[in-house]
Amino acid sequence: MTEHSTTEHLTVVNHPMVQHKLSIMRDKTTSTAKFRQLLREISMLLAYEVTRHLPLTTQTIETPMCAMEAPTLKGRKLALVSILRAGNGLLDGILELIPSARVGFVGLYRDPKTLQPVQYYCKLPSELDERVVIVVDPMLATGNSSAKAIDLLKAAGAKNIIFLCLLAAPEGVRRMKEAHPDVPVVTAALDEYLNDHGYIVPGLGDAGDRLYGTK
Ligand code: URA
Repeated sequence: MTEHSTTEHLTVVNHPMVQHKLSIMRDKTTSTAKFRQLLREISMLLAYEVTRHLPLTTQTIETPMCAMEAPTLKGRKLALVSILRAGNGLLDGILELIPSARVGFVGLYRDPKTLQPVQYYCKLPSELDERVVIVVDPMLATGNSSAKAIDLLKAAGAKNIIFLCLLAAPEGVRRMKEAHPDVPVVTAALDEYLNDHGYIVPGLGDAGDRLYGTK
C-alpha cells in the first residue's frame, strides 16, 4: 500500500497507522475519551503529511563538528484555522508538531430557511497573505461550510490555503473543487456518500458529539 493516493486536488493519506486509528474512531462503541485521544494522534500524522511540501530555505549554523547550511522552513509562521466546533479536535495534535503556528477560528451555523452557512464568529491571525493557511474540520460533508470558510479567508487576504479533514464525502470534494480549485484537500479517507441528513456514510457519526460527548 502506498502512503498516498493523490489527484491534483485531493490527497488521501492511506498510511497504515492513520487507517488503523481511523477504524477505531469509526467504531460506535469507542468511548469519547478514546475518540478524542485518537483524533489527537491522527491529526499529528495528518499534519506531517499536509506540511510535506512546505518551502525550505537554509540557515548557517555551527554543529559541534563544523559550520553548515542547514534546511529550515521558509517564510512566516503557518496559520491554522479551525472551523468550530469539531475543527478544534484537530488543533492539539497539529500544534504538537507545529507549536509556533498561529491559530484562527471561524464559526458558522446553517440558516434553517436557506440551509446556507452563516458566519457567527471569526478571529484570524494577522498577515494571512504571507502565510500558508491550513483550514481544519474533521468532516468534509456537503462542503458548504468549508467553502464559505475559505471565502472568508480569501477575503481576509489568504492566498495559500490547504484544507485538512479526517473524512471526506465525494459530494464535499466536488463542491470544494468547484468553489476553490486552488485549495488542495487532504483527508484520511474518501467515504461513499452523504445520506439525506447530510451525514457521511459509512462515516463516524457526528464528529462534534463524539469528540465532546454531547448529543
Ligand atoms: N458532520 C459530522 O459531524 N458528521 C458527518 O457525517 C457529516 C457532517
